[in-house]
Amino acid sequence: MTAQLLITLGVLAFALPIAKKRLDLSRAKHPSLTGHSRMAKRVASWLPGYEFNQEKFFACDDAPKLIAQQRENSFYSLAQTLQSKHPLSIAMTGQAREIISDLQFTGAYRVPFQFSPIVRENLKVGAFIQSADGIYVTDLDGQRFFDLTGSYGVNVFGADFYKACMHEGSEKVKNLGATLGAYHPCVLDNVSKLKSISGLDEVSFHMSGTEAVMQAVRLARYHTQRKNLVRFCGAYHGWWEDVQPGPGNPMPPRETYTLRDMHANSLHVLRTRNDIACVLINPLQALHLNQGAPADSSLVDSSRKASFERQTYTAWLKDVRRVCTEKGIVLIFDEVFMGFRLAKGGAQEYFGVKADMVTYGKTLGGGLPVGVVCGRSDLMKRFRPSRPADVCFARGTFNAHPHVMGSMSVFLEKLETQECLSVYEGLDERWNERRIKFNESMAQNGFPLRAANMSSVWSLYYTEPCRYNWMLQYFLRSHGLALSWVGTGRLIFSLNYSDADFQAVLSRFVSACHEMEEGGWFWHPPQMTNKLIKRQIFKEMFFQ
Ligand SMILES: Cc1ncc(COP(=O)(O)O)c(C=O)c1O
Repeated sequence: MTAQLLITLGVLAFALPIAKKRLDLSRAKHPSLTGHSRMAKRVASWLPGYEFNQEKFFACDDAPKLIAQQRENSFYSLAQTLQSKHPLSIAMTGQAREIISDLQFTGAYRVPFQFSPIVRENLKVGAFIQSADGIYVTDLDGQRFFDLTGSYGVNVFGADFYKACMHEGSEKVKNLGATLGAYHPCVLDNVSKLKSISGLDEVSFHMSGTEAVMQAVRLARYHTQRKNLVRFCGAYHGWWEDVQPGPGNPMPPRETYTLRDMHANSLHVLRTRNDIACVLINPLQALHLNQGAPADSSLVDSSRKASFERQTYTAWLKDVRRVCTEKGIVLIFDEVFMGFRLAKGGAQEYFGVKADMVTYGKTLGGGLPVGVVCGRSDLMKRFRPSRPADVCFARGTFNAHPHVMGSMSVFLEKLETQECLSVYEGLDERWNERRIKFNESMAQNGFPLRAANMSSVWSLYYTEPCRYNWMLQYFLRSHGLALSWVGTGRLIFSLNYSDADFQAVLSRFVSACHEMEEGGWFWHPPQMTNKLIKRQIFKEMFFQ
C-alpha cells in the first residue's frame, strides 16, 4: 500500500464519522425555514418590504368590485365604531406610540406587513386600560372587554387573585421595603413549597423567565462541560440569544441545535452526539409542533394549524427523558408559560415526566416579575471546592426582592387552598368541552374558523384559504373581546371563566364572524389555495 493511499484512508477514517454526525444533525432539522435558523435569518434579511395602496388593500386577492366595495365600507365603518367607542384610549396610545419603542413594534406587527400602514392609520387600538376585575379589563373610556390576553400567561387564576397576592404580599414584607441581599423570612417557606411542587432539591430566584432559562442553561453547561444546547423547532424560551438563534436576533446562531420536535432523528442526534449539555422543553409547543408563535402578523393565508394530543406528546417526552438519562444530558422543562396552568405540579405532573431542572416565572410571582430555577442539587451548585476559581457566576440586584417574595408567598399559600385545588379538577375536560362547543358553533354557522386548545390556551385557525383572516381581531375587539397583540393565534383564558362567561365570549365570536362575513372578508376566489396565495405574495414582493 502506498503512503498516499494510507494517508487518504487515514483522513477518511477521521472525516467520515464527522461527516456522518453532521448529516445526522441536518436530518434532524425540520424542513421548514423555522428549522433552519441560519437560512431563516438570511431570508429575512433579503425579503423586501412593500405596502398595499388603497385599491390593492381591499382586493389583493382579485376580488370583484362588489366585494372590494363591501370590504371598504366595512373597514371604514369598523374604524369609526372603534374610534367613537374608545376615543381617550386611542388618543393616549397615539401620544405614546412616538416614544414607546415597544408600542411601535407591536403596532406594526399586528397584521401582515403589506396591510399594516393602512390598518395603523385607520383601525386604531387603545393600549391603555384603567382597571381589571374578574375576567374583564376596562379601558380609559369605560369600555369593558373580556380579557383573552391572560397577561401573556401570568393570569391563571383571574385578575382579583393577583391583586390579592400583591396586596397581601406587600403587607407581609412592608417593613423591609426594598432592602436587598438579605432575605425576608417568607423566602424559606417559598423555597420549601417550590421544592415540593417541583420535586427538585434547590431553588434560585431571578427577575424574569428569560434570566431563569439563561441560568439553567449556564449551569447545565458548567456541570456537563459541554457547550451545546438543544431547543425544539419554533419553541420560545425568552429573548436571550442562545435560545433565539433565528430571525429576531442580530447575532448568528451559536452553540444551539434546533431540532425537529417529536421526531426519531432528533432522538438519534441526542443519542449519538457527545457535545450536548441540555435539552429545553417548552410544553406549549405541543399545541403547534415545529412552528413559531402563531401571531396574526404571519397570517398571510390559512395554512396555520394547531392541535394537541396529550398521549402522543407524553410518549415523546418519555423518550426524550430516557435518552437524556442515558447520555447525561440535562433535561430542562421550561414551565415559565405553562407552569401552574395545567396542574399544580405543572407539566411534570401533567405529563408524568420528571425533569432535571425546571424554570418557572410569570404567574409564580403572584403578579410581580419573577424567574425561578429549581434543580437537582448537583446541577445547581455554582462552584467546585476542588477548583475554587472555576465558578459559574450568576447574580442579579433584584433577585428575591422582598415584594416579589411576599407576593409569591401569598400565591403559593393560596395554591394550597381547596378553592384553588378544585380549579384543577376536571380542567382539561372543561376546556376541551368548551373548544368542542366553539367548533360546533362555528361549523353550524358556516364560518371558516376553528379552535385548538391545550387546556385553557387556545389557538385559532382558518379552514378556507383567505388573505384577510387577520381582520377578525378587530371585529372581536369591537365586540368587547381583548386579545394580545399576536391576535387570534393565541387566546389565553384565566381559569375563573365560568360556563356562562364562556358562552358570552362565544356569542361575541359569532357576532364578530357575522360581521366578517357581511364585510366580505371571508370571501375568496373559488380556485384559491394557500399555495396560490404564497405564490401571489412572492410575485408582489419581487415583480410589482
Ligand atoms: C416558555 C417561556 N420561557 C421563557 C419566557 C421568557 O420569560 P420573560 O418574558 O419573563 O423573560 C417566556 C415568555 O413568554 C416563555 O413563554
